[in-house]
Amino acid sequence: MGAGVLPKRRFSTVVRFFLSVLRHGLARGGFFAAMCSLPPDSLVGACAAPVFCHDRRGVGLVGLPRYLAGCGGARVTPDNRNSMQSIVILISGGGSNMAALVRAAQQEDWAARYGAPVAAVISNRADAAGLQWAQAQGIATQVISHTDFADRAQFDSALAQAIAAHGGKDIGPKPLVGAPLGIAVHPGEGARDVKPPLVLLAGFMRILTPGFVQAHAGRLVNIHPSLLPAFTGLHTHARALAAGCKFAGATVHRVTEVLDEGAILEQSVVPVLPEDDARTLAARVLATEHIIYPRAVRRLLAAGLS
Ligand code: GRF
Repeated sequence: MGAGVLPKRRFSTVVRFFLSVLRHGLARGGFFAAMCSLPPDSLVGACAAPVFCHDRRGVGLVGLPRYLAGCGGARVTPDNRNSMQSIVILISGGGSNMAALVRAAQQEDWAARYGAPVAAVISNRADAAGLQWAQAQGIATQVISHTDFADRAQFDSALAQAIAAHGGKDIGPKPLVGAPLGIAVHPGEGARDVKPPLVLLAGFMRILTPGFVQAHAGRLVNIHPSLLPAFTGLHTHARALAAGCKFAGATVHRVTEVLDEGAILEQSVVPVLPEDDARTLAARVLATEHIIYPRAVRRLLAAGLS
């Protein structure tokens, strides 16, 4: 056997192997789609690079890093790859939930993975500490003070305009998930479809008018520091303690016209300790908010949202 023959055979065996995987991948798109929709926690068990991702636009060979960045935790559908939906976060104060959302968006590259960059942080208070933090992250910020408006409707109207202005732009090309080895399979495709922004209320202490809620229906999400439907409104931790609750928690929910109502997306539960006061309980609940809010948003984005 000549020295050059064996490598050639090996090469053709490898090529045949990949062609066969490709063929089976086309036939069993569901299998590859399933691989691509594994949650990040499952990645340890799925660390067989290279990984194929399949969707209606074709099959592509993606390296494990690409898989980790582009497929893990996301259902690969045309909905969340061909479209773009910015995130606008509304705050009134410290902004620790906003920071948790921004960190998750940065670390998991929501812009590339879901076409969902954090476009802006808007506050109704100029002294909201979260504004400076957001600016330091390079995120656009804006203050729209409710005190500058005669009524809620006028404030909400200005807020809606600002949200639309920040969140209505496509800031990048369609992602190339599914492109073999990073080479575009659809060269020349233009900007993605731009959906209206997803609006995340993160300690935003304003009651929104029905008109605003209706205008943002399906893309308005809030976090509330209680186990809804218990303790809507303010002072949730003091009220939970006064009621003798053994457990407290937080809820991420869709926003409706009724305060702190709406479909529950995520909840966290913490035990109430004998030595708790409202401050210590709030701090423990807040730590869990920073986990469940990014998780809820991640799931919405992965599902293609509204
Ligand atoms: C959080 O407890 C949130 O649930 C409630 O207001 C608080 C805001 O905290 N709506 P931060 O501004 O996110 O730190």
